[in-house]
Order: sequence, then C-alpha cells, then structure tokens
Amino acid sequence: MTPRSIHEMEISGRRLVIRADLNVPMKAGRVTDATRIERFAEGLKPLLAKGASAVILSHLGRPDGKRSVELTLGPVAEVLGEFLDSPVAFTSVISGAAASKIAAGLPAGEVLVCENLRFDPREEANCATLGAELAELGDIFVNDAFSCAHRAHASTVAVSDFLPSAAGPLMLAEIEALQQALEVPERPAVALVGGSKVSSKIDVLTHLVGKIDALIVGGGMANTFLAAAGVPMGKSLHEPGQFETVREILAAARASGCEIILPVDIVWSDRLETGATAHIAEIGDCPDHGMILDAGPRSIERIWDVIGTAKTILWNGPLGAFEIEPFEHATQVVAIEVARLTREGAIRSIAGGGDTVAALNAAGVTDDFTYVSTAGGAFLEWLEGKELPGVAALKSLQQT
Ligand code: 3PG
Repeated sequence: MTPRSIHEMEISGRRLVIRADLNVPMKAGRVTDATRIERFAEGLKPLLAKGASAVILSHLGRPDGKRSVELTLGPVAEVLGEFLDSPVAFTSVISGAAASKIAAGLPAGEVLVCENLRFDPREEANCATLGAELAELGDIFVNDAFSCAHRAHASTVAVSDFLPSAAGPLMLAEIEALQQALEVPERPAVALVGGSKVSSKIDVLTHLVGKIDALIVGGGMANTFLAAAGVPMGKSLHEPGQFETVREILAAARASGCEIILPVDIVWSDRLETGATAHIAEIGDCPDHGMILDAGPRSIERIWDVIGTAKTILWNGPLGAFEIEPFEHATQVVAIEVARLTREGAIRSIAGGGDTVAALNAAGVTDDFTYVSTAGGAFLEWLEGKELPGVAALKSLQQT
C-alpha cells in the first residue's frame, strides 16, 4: 500500500510542516553537492504555487544532540532559496513557542527552514513531546524524506501522531520506483549487486534471490562466492568467514529459481593504484601475489547477455575497484549499456547507494536511468525487505 499523497489534499492557505532530507555534503560552511536540495526544491515549488506555506525540518550530519556551528542548516537554507528563486527564512530555533510564533507569521507561498533537528537530543529518541512541538508548527505534516525513513525519529514518526499526514513528492516517487523494481517488476527482473563485502549485504542478497529471476554478483563479494567454491584468491579481498552464508544464499536461490551469475574471468593486479598494470586471467589464475580488482571481458559479455534479455534492472554496488583507473572498466561499460537499454525503452533501471551513484555519475549516465535513489541506508534496508518506520507511520494513519 502506498501512503496518502500530499497532492490528494487541499493545501491552499495551509501551513505544511515538511520533513526533508537536506543532509548534504558541506565543506567550510559551504554546500559541496546540492543534488538533494535541488530535487527537494523541484517538488516543493508546485505545493507553494497552490498557496501553501512551508516549514522545513531536516537534520544535517550527526551532531549527537548538541549544537554545532559546523552543522547549522543556515547555508543549506540559502541554497534552497536559490533553487526556489526566492529567499527562504531561517530560524535557529527548532520547535517550541518561539518557533511556533515565527511559523504562524509565514505568508502563503513562503518558506521557513528550522535549525538542524539533531541539535535536540529528543529528535533521535523519537520523543512524543518533540513530535507534538513540531506539529505545532503547521496544519499538515508531509514526510518527503524517504532517505530518512529508516530512522524512527520524532520528525519521521512521532510527529505524525499529532497532525494529518501525507507523503511528499520525492517520497512518493521513490516508493513508486522501488515498488515497480521489486514488488511488481516487469520480468525478467535482474539485480546487480556489487561492493566489497558479503557480510554487509547478507540480508540484501537473501531477500533479493526470493524476488528476482537473476542475481549478478560483482566486486569483492563475488570473490567470496568464488573462494567458497575453492577458487584461489591470491591476495584478493574475500571473507572466508562468510562461506557458509554464501552456500545458504546459493541454496535459497536454487529453491526460488533465481540464477546466480558470477564472474568467469578476472582483472588482477599486484597494486591497487592508479595506472597499475591490469592483467586479464581465468578465474582460477589469480597468482599468489595478485589481487582481483575488476571483472574480465568475458564476464562483461555475460552480464550484457543477461541484462539484454531483462525488463527490469536493479543495481546496488560497483563491479570492481571503480574509483581507481583502470579498475573502473567493468562498472563503467555495464553502466553505459544499462543506460543505452533504458534510453531505448527496453528496460526500467533503478539504482541506488552512494558508491553506485558515484559510479554512474563518473560514467556520465545518471540521467539516463529510470530512477536513481539518493538514499543510502534507507535504500539498503528496503532492499533487505524491511518495513521502514517513516513509511509505516504514514501508512498506519491511513488505516485508522
Ligand atoms: C542519509 O544521508 O542517508 C540520510 O540523511 C540519513 O542520515 P543518517 O544515516 O545520519 O541517519
């Protein structure tokens, strides 16, 4: 079930209390990547145009319940104003009588950003009193922060007990894209899961094999799958402690008819450095002093064959040491191929996770994907099949 949409509600003349995720990278008091702010502003504009005003709540970083000059949302509010093409008010208070008074004076169509929620220790404690104080800031609660929905905090859960609540445009777009990828995918549905460690994605792999038709395993975690089958690893990253888990995942995949695709050849080197010599070899031929750092050309062709017959691709995690040339090759060429198939309308492609977004950006194909999630932890927990508290809070309201 999808939560109620803010677009279904009468919002003209109403004050919206919007939980956004404006947790963006900062350096020396300046925003260094404004992607999240820009996306949020695009969704906010139509709500303001309908005559609503907006009180924006967000966290920035992890200040642990204490005020910190470095983590003020002031500079973020300025950048939000630039994307909205109109100045945005900022208040250094978060909630309480002073904040409610400022919010009450907000004219229709205007925006107020409150200070970093996590300066108040009650936020992460999901404190009902703070939830009630945040509710005092407006008439309708809108959660537009899917990327914070895995946190049960006062601004994602408690507040929804005190106001009529709805999902915002970004939250809705994210839920819709993710549901189409995994709950009701067009088949064949293929997941591409990479990254360094099986141990960090056991629940993701276990959940996915029960849902999709083929799982392509890449990156360091493919090494652990191969090593569990007795393939020599040289000095490659792998986790002998996870061999039993790998066998369980393979058994679960067999039981549900999900094909597991592993590399059939490798790129190894004796150094993980830019410009290091890359050697192509069969999977059993990594020398004692070598490290597997990327998938080989036949593995790439195999991946192309699999995605070439798919209708849905879900991607999380790079296929090799993508930050270091020349070991970015497999990740890059597969990203370019997924982008091409998406442009041609042959597949729906959904990607998420910090490294994956960085790899797609480096390949210059982010905009070609059907949907790219900027959520980190929330995207992974959703891939694990978990109910996210911030989404659950909006749904349970509909049932009452
Ligand atoms: C994110 O960047 O993934 C979200 O803003 C959540 O941040 P958190 O991991 O500090 O809760």
